[in-house]
Formats: sequence, structure tokens, C-alpha cells
Amino acid sequence: MIQKVIERLEREKKKAVEDLVEILKIPSVSADPARKGDVRKAAEWLAAKMNAAGVKTEVKATAGNPIVYGESPGPKGAPTILIYGHYDVQPPDPLGEWESPPFEPVVKSGKIYARGSSDDKGQLLTHVRAIAAWLAEAKSLPITMKIILEGEEEISSINLPAFLRENREMLRCDVVVVSDTSQFAPGMPAITYGLKGLAYAEVRVQGPSADLHSGSFGGSVANPANVLAKMIAGMHDENGRVAIPGFYDDVKPLDDWERKEYARLPFDDEEYKKITGVPALWGEEGYTTTERRWARPTLDVNGMWGGYQGEGGKTIIPARAGAKISMRLVPNQDPEKIAKLFAEHVRKAAPPSVRVEVIPMHGGKPFLIDPKLPMFEKAALAIERGFGKKPVFIREGGSIPITQTFKEVLGADTLLLGWGQNDDRTHSPNERFDLEDFHKGTLASAHLIGLLGG
Ligand code: BES
Ligand code: MN
Ligand code: MN
Repeated sequence: MIQKVIERLEREKKKAVEDLVEILKIPSVSADPARKGDVRKAAEWLAAKMNAAGVKTEVKATAGNPIVYGESPGPKGAPTILIYGHYDVQPPDPLGEWESPPFEPVVKSGKIYARGSSDDKGQLLTHVRAIAAWLAEAKSLPITMKIILEGEEEISSINLPAFLRENREMLRCDVVVVSDTSQFAPGMPAITYGLKGLAYAEVRVQGPSADLHSGSFGGSVANPANVLAKMIAGMHDENGRVAIPGFYDDVKPLDDWERKEYARLPFDDEEYKKITGVPALWGEEGYTTTERRWARPTLDVNGMWGGYQGEGGKTIIPARAGAKISMRLVPNQDPEKIAKLFAEHVRKAAPPSVRVEVIPMHGGKPFLIDPKLPMFEKAALAIERGFGKKPVFIREGGSIPITQTFKEVLGADTLLLGWGQNDDRTHSPNERFDLEDFHKGTLASAHLIGLLGG
């Protein structure tokens, strides 16, 4: 049967790209309230596709964006797979840096360019296509398939945890499969066994009640921008380590086998310098670039403001300054504990000459799973058949906090089978997805269904 499914997917390659183009045209930006209607449109588009394929699917309301949920029952006693993906996308800004409009997909040199192409519409569609092909050939699946697609991943899955808790029985499964990560490199597919967590906060520094003339008042009142800069500078030590007391207390050190395996992967710092465009690399002393990216916690300013930003100069002491700061966490750091340590540290570092406020934003737990679990064997074989190459086992620096919630609420482990590439420019202008990866990912998904069905 799998042969017929694969042949169908080969035949329908063009149709698959047409489908992808359709959904990429819908600007389902979850961060933008003005796009609420488009977010719903994307949910409805997916539900219609899935229903047409024979997967009984509903668009389920939440307090926020809808959840698309579908089921296709398999034989009695067969395993149950829950596929998760997200149909919401990041804002397309800065718009001026796109070579073609973000919601008008174009194909150039085998890659499709559009917001959401790789993260995550293109990736989630591989599973929808694979299931459709199976149902067209076999009338039913060899496993019980459940699919859950959310519209709030990029705004930290606000309503999904409650939905999981309220629908525990409906969502019961043996394993969760997520395609929302990357391969190690072109031609090197991967299974991701670890992701980072997140603690996010905004820091606001208030100085004088209004901007002041920096000549008349300078040197007599503290400048909130100066104060903020000093506080941020104090967040790292000279070895590139985060200088917040207690920050590393719960960090799980890299295992020896991990350091060995990472060192064997083809990776070149010089090449990485070129890709990122930086004049020199930077990071925590004592760790390689790969170790820093995958397994060491970090702290970064994501944005900062204060004072005059326009043309020319303006001689003021700004009334206020602020920054958005995120910390990427590794096992076994706890986002709430880290958020508290951060707030305490900022409060202690704040001089009495300004008012400082720390506003906690979203967080998420890190994810780590034993890559030697038996379920990885079939997943690895499915990838080998789809991509023609055995996958390598990697961690990544991104976050999908819901993976941890799947474990806590449903008791199920998550298989992260990502078809993206590191240079897909996710969250960035000119996001793209290789149509070869799109196709091979679809084949791998079809093989996975066959293999898990025994
Ligand atoms: N698909 C990414 C997660 C990801 C990124 C995994 C890179 C592996 C490598 C996901 O859509 C995402 O962007 N997650 C956010 C989570 C946040 C909003 C809570 C992230 O990592 O910033
Ligand atoms: Mn994603
Ligand atoms: Mn994302």
C-alpha cells in the first residue's frame, strides 16, 4: 500500500504546491488584532482540506484563535498518533526588506518565498497531504490519526494548554508528532531531541516626569537611558556568562556523548560567521558554537527604546527608557524561577535615582527527551525513506513549550521531525521553504504512518 501512496504523492506534487500557495496567501498573523479574520480564514481553509480528504474535522472556538481538530480512526488496537502544528505566523515586518510581498508566494530556484512557508504552514501541510494520499489509496489509515492545529503558537499558545486539559480523553494518544523544527543542513535531515525554554520580561525605567533640557538639567538627575544601559551591561560577565545570581543553578550539563556527537557534525565557525554576517563570534567561554546554540542558556535584549530617535540631534534627558529582554532556558531551568531571579536582580541593580519596573511576559519550559527511546527507530527509518538519508540527532535553540505540556497533560512524548533549514529565515524577511524539503517531508510522513501502523 505504501508504494501506491508514494506514487500518488509523486503524481500530485504540483497540486501540493498549489495548496501551499493558497494557504500562504492568507495573512494569519496572530500578533496583529486586525488579522483576526484572516487567522480564522486559515483555520477554515485547513478544516475544509482535511474534511475533503476524509478526516473528520472541526474548527473549535477558544477564548482566542480557533483550534482545528480532526480525527481519522484506524484499526482496533493500532497506535494513536497526534499531529500538532500551527497555522498562525509571525508579523511580516519590516515590510520594506521583502523582495516579494510576504503574502504573495513566489517560487525562485526551487524555494517558495512567503511568511509562514517554513514556520509552520509548509511543514504542517506535509502531514495533511500524506494523510490525504493514504486515505485516497487505502480508504482508512493503519493507525488512528488525530490532528490538532493551533492559531496562537507565535503568541505563546495562550489557550492551548486549557484546551488540552479540557479535552484529555479526545486527545489521548501514544505519541505526538511535530514538524516545526529544522534539519541540520541541506541533505542532512534530523530528529530534534531538545529545545530551549523561555522567560521573557519588559524593563521600564522612569526618570524625570518629562524630557528635560540636557544642558539645564544634565548631571543633576539620572538619565534613565544611561541607567538602563548600565543595568543591561551588568547582565553578562566578561566570560559571556549570564551574571544573574542563581541563573545556572538548575542547568543540566551537556552529557559526554552529546559533546562528542556535536563535535562530529560538519560545522564550521568561519562559514557560520559568513551566514550570520558578524565580524566575530561571541558566547559563553568553554563551549563550542553548537553547544552554545543548543544546550546553554542565554540572555538577549530583543528591543530597547528611550529618548530621541529622529534625524539630527536633540539635547534632552529622556523621561523614560525601556527594554524587552528574553532568556532562553535549558533543562532543568524553570521559567518562573528564572523570571523571579531576573526581576530581583534588576531591582537590586536599580539606583534610587530612577523608578524601575519589571513586567513579566510569557514563558515556556525547555524540552528534552531520551533519543534512545524505541519510538525513534521508526521515525528515523521513515525519514531515511523520505529523504534518502539517515537523520542525525540534534537539539535546537528555539522553543515549542507546548511539547512539555503534551507530556504533562496527555502523558505523551513528542517526536520533533522538522523539515525546515536553518537558513529558511523564519521570523525574518524573505522567509522561504525548499520545495524539495516540502516534498520529502510529505514522503517521510507517509512512511511514518505506514511504519507506525506496522
Ligand atoms: N518553530 C518555532 C520554534 C523553533 C525555532 C524550533 C527554531 C526550532 C528552531 C516556533 O514557531 C517559534 O517561533 N517559537 C517561539 C516560541 C515563543 C513565541 C514562546 C520562539 O522560539 O521564539
Ligand atoms: Mn513554528
Ligand atoms: Mn515561529
